[in-house]
Amino acid sequence: MAQRTVYLETFGCQMNELDSELVAGRLAELGYAFTADSDKADVVLYNTCSVREHAEQKVWSRLGDLKQRKARQPDLVVGVLGCMAERDGAGLMKRMPVVDLMCGPAELDKLPDLLDNAVRTRLSMLADDPASAGRVSARVAALVGGASRRSSTLAAAADSLELLDLSRSITPLDAGHRRSAYVRITRGCNKFCTYCVVPFTRGAEVHRPPQHIIDECKRLADTGVIEITLLGQTVNHYRFEHDAAVAVGGITQPQKGRSYKGGHRRDPFGGSRVTTFADLLHMIHEQVPEILRLRFITSYPRDFGDDVLEVMRDSPRLCRYIHAPGQSGSDRILGAMNRGYSVSAYDEFLARCRDYLDEPDKGRPLMLSGDIIVGFPTETDEDFDRTIALVQRSRYKNCYIFKYSPRPGTIAFDKMPDDVPEEIKRERNNALLAVQADISDAISREQVGRTFDVLVEGISRREHRKRGTDVKPGSGMVALTVGGQTSRAAVLDPEIDHSVQMTGRTEGDQIVFFDAPAQAGDNLVGQIVPVRITSAERLGLHGQHG
Ligand code: 5AD
Ligand code: SF4
Repeated sequence: MAQRTVYLETFGCQMNELDSELVAGRLAELGYAFTADSDKADVVLYNTCSVREHAEQKVWSRLGDLKQRKARQPDLVVGVLGCMAERDGAGLMKRMPVVDLMCGPAELDKLPDLLDNAVRTRLSMLADDPASAGRVSARVAALVGGASRRSSTLAAAADSLELLDLSRSITPLDAGHRRSAYVRITRGCNKFCTYCVVPFTRGAEVHRPPQHIIDECKRLADTGVIEITLLGQTVNHYRFEHDAAVAVGGITQPQKGRSYKGGHRRDPFGGSRVTTFADLLHMIHEQVPEILRLRFITSYPRDFGDDVLEVMRDSPRLCRYIHAPGQSGSDRILGAMNRGYSVSAYDEFLARCRDYLDEPDKGRPLMLSGDIIVGFPTETDEDFDRTIALVQRSRYKNCYIFKYSPRPGTIAFDKMPDDVPEEIKRERNNALLAVQADISDAISREQVGRTFDVLVEGISRREHRKRGTDVKPGSGMVALTVGGQTSRAAVLDPEIDHSVQMTGRTEGDQIVFFDAPAQAGDNLVGQIVPVRITSAERLGLHGQHG
């Protein structure tokens, strides 16, 4: 079979970005080529998100556009990966016969075989009946299917998803270019917030063996990565009990998450036979010192122990950054969301984080970020006022604000009518955005006069625009677009270009712009350099290097 060229576009969260990277790595090893131009591909894959309807609509519209093309190019293979595939199942192929292949997020280890199967099936369909091939799906799928949550069989069988993580190909493409990477520590979620599809699409919470995680961090560090973000839906629930470890074929298997019981100041299961989240952070910090920045997302605001905060405080390479969604400022709504904590417990949690970690005088202010849903069923003006007050008290560096989107299959969808009108949702969304914008501005202004270590990412967008060069992050090929690529597109001429505006981030994830001599600019990419902040603007901090 001739070499196939793949276009892979990713929607949604960081977990999806990592999944795409792993899948792209496997496919590249198997001889597939990649393109950033969908029109030039023989295989079009969308790695999809179902968290809100809007994310799904984008994919429906992409699929709609492919209909015509498939008639012209009947050997084209179209695949839907990720949460939409899992959620919509066979219904998706029925609605869109243009789709040949579906693969849920908990089955991505099977993708190479599925794709091979789909390509061969299309070729034989074409040979059998060229006229109809453009209208008929190859119908290849791997989905967990609603009720069976994959990890229920974990103790008995090898977890092949773990093999996908383990086989992460840290390719020569990355070497030398890439400075930041994601590493998964847990998969799935056990929380069942009433609005959320994730427990259904990604399955039960599963924790990876600590040694696998540390080895992956080491391998990334060996290729020049200096910043790692650990990923988990409820990342602070991480815990690995060594006595209960199961090995299959010599490979230690991931472990199902257990619920926390008995207080949440400290992991009550801690001890020599258990690796807690705090232990894991400490181990990576000590054993992989080449990682100069270690962060984690997303924290569940309950069960976040003082043991974690102590490790963060005492480990200089752990970033002073916590993303801990509050979701609402009303106890009644938090209850209806099944979040499992009260507003006062959330306030207490953020106060505890600040107590341990907010050290602006040492140049290390704690930066918090949050998520809020507005317009959850039955949310009144009073509930919303409480949410505004929560956002004001929390002083997030940034906050992602979402209008409630009813998702079929979730508890809220089945039990709670979506009774807040769209225009009220929009008004609340805008009001909260304005509140948050003022807070973000104020926090930015507080940084003026401070000096931060900044990890330089590349030439700024403004500078690219000035030069007419191309920024192109997220061009659809995750594997090829992470890291320092942005600066490579602009060619600097030292005769003409005396200074160039660079951009980077602080450990608290604030964006910083600074000018560098043109000759130095490219060499700074991927370095951590001191920048003194001289002014603050809506889009970021401005400062002077050196
Ligand atoms: N509607 C709106 N926002 C949602 N989120 C998750 N599910 C929904 C939904 N059905 C938001 C939550 C979560 C973030 C990733 O997306 O705020 O933290
Ligand atoms: Fe969804 Fe709640 Fe799990 Fe987060 S904690 S992934 S919002 S169910």
